[in-house]
Amino acid sequence: MKKKIIVTGGSGFIGTNLVNYLNKLNYEILNIDKISYCSVKEKFKNITYKHNYKFIKLNLKNDKKLFRVISKFNPKYIINLASESHVDRSIDNPDKFIKENIDLTIGLLEVLKKVKIKKKINTIKLIHISTDEVFGSISKKFANEDATFNPSSAYSASKAAAENIINSYYKTFKINFSTLRLCNNYGPYQFTEKFIPTIIMNIYKNKKIPLYGKGEHVREWMHVDDTCAIIEKNLHKFKNGESYNIGSNIYYKNIDLIFLILKFFYIKHNQIKKILFTLDRPGHDLRYAMNSKKFKKLSKWKNFISMKKGLEETIKWYKNNSEWIKSTRQKYDGKRLGIIK
Ligand code: TYD
Repeated sequence: MKKKIIVTGGSGFIGTNLVNYLNKLNYEILNIDKISYCSVKEKFKNITYKHNYKFIKLNLKNDKKLFRVISKFNPKYIINLASESHVDRSIDNPDKFIKENIDLTIGLLEVLKKVKIKKKINTIKLIHISTDEVFGSISKKFANEDATFNPSSAYSASKAAAENIINSYYKTFKINFSTLRLCNNYGPYQFTEKFIPTIIMNIYKNKKIPLYGKGEHVREWMHVDDTCAIIEKNLHKFKNGESYNIGSNIYYKNIDLIFLILKFFYIKHNQIKKILFTLDRPGHDLRYAMNSKKFKKLSKWKNFISMKKGLEETIKWYKNNSEWIKSTRQKYDGKRLGIIK
């Protein structure tokens, strides 16, 4: 029998990749997504086995419908990717941003509570996707799973709050969950406002690449294919009530990442001239760095996709998917976000 999985936010960047990935395997998938400015339209998805995939346009705050849908589908896992995710947008609208991310989380948890109590369904496991950003900037060493949350943006504050809320439902209502904290992801379908797509698109347009501050900020990067495979292959291994840091150990300063990508376009000289140094992001975290030994021990995962291979494929993908890029441009014109005026 096929395993049933609900992916919430299955029309976002990681969600779309995960749905495409799971669809090639033996899963029956239900994608629940509210559809927002950065959602990937169904026609751009790469679904091989249509009979194993369904999409429902639904906000997790719609508790009555969500209760019916989850009780009826009765999945083994719910992978919760539903979240507003761009730090710069959270600077522009912190109130809306925090409220939305918290309300989505509570909406889902309340329904899971009801499904458990009213339908006596006790077997659903929530795999909640969080972020390294909950730890804030780590000046030295690496954040373990139990490091203190120290968020800097409305986005990361809302993600830290969501984690705490889930933990409280686990303790009080025995809702099964594991939290996975991802490092920065990149790959196909990443919305064009994020850093790597911004770099690629500006090079294609022969424009300068906007770099916040001096570009000394360090991020840990993972190709989204690794993320999907790690989630799927370890679904049954993640322990109930526990969180896992999921990092690749591939670190780049933002400026070095630009230099690296420029090299793929055979631009090796005068690279600095291709950069537009811009005002720094308010509250900009200097360094994200997680200790991911717990997950590596659990999964024995070590062969991460290299930046060379991952970026090469990503650059090609953006070149070959101009229709999709055009569709994102209807919602986002490429202007700088997250500046306090
Ligand atoms: P981003 O892709 O927004 O992810 P996050 O803020 O969640 O890490 O940004 C990655 C890094 O790149 C971050 O340090 C901000 C920086 N950045 C730029 O320098 N220029 C840009 O145009 C963007 C979008 C980001």
